[in-house]
Amino acid sequence: MDEGTWNALMHAAMGARARAYAPYSGFTVGAAIQAKSGALYIGCNVENASYGATICAERAAMAAAVAAGERELIALAISTAAKTPTPPCGICRQCLVELAPKLPIRSYTGDAYAEYDLGSLLPHAFGRGQLD
Ligand code: THU
Repeated sequence: MDEGTWNALMHAAMGARARAYAPYSGFTVGAAIQAKSGALYIGCNVENASYGATICAERAAMAAAVAAGERELIALAISTAAKTPTPPCGICRQCLVELAPKLPIRSYTGDAYAEYDLGSLLPHAFGRGQLD
């Protein structure tokens, strides 16, 4: 991934975060996924009065990509206002590994970012291979 693409993903994730619906936690998250097709998909967290029904930003972005017909995801940017960059939660890791086991991820906050790859965040993942 070139820096220009990461920059575009970062800005898209920040824009999505501005639209997050997080009245309960106050923790707003935006995400942007780059698909191999060249298109970019965004998501934000959408909380619910029934807390467990909350959708994370990363899964929202992945669902948008899949709904548009994408199957190859090549990068994910996350934006929060946390003190330090935050990695994706465990549920999101499990969802993302379905389509992109080695997905490069950058998480941005303020002017800092952390870089991960999904294979390191979720080693020994359960996947479709186990269902054979
Ligand atoms: N959240 C995300 O959107 N992504 C993550 O990976 C971690 C958590 C959201 C869920 C909830 O709305 C808020 O952040 C606090 O957990």
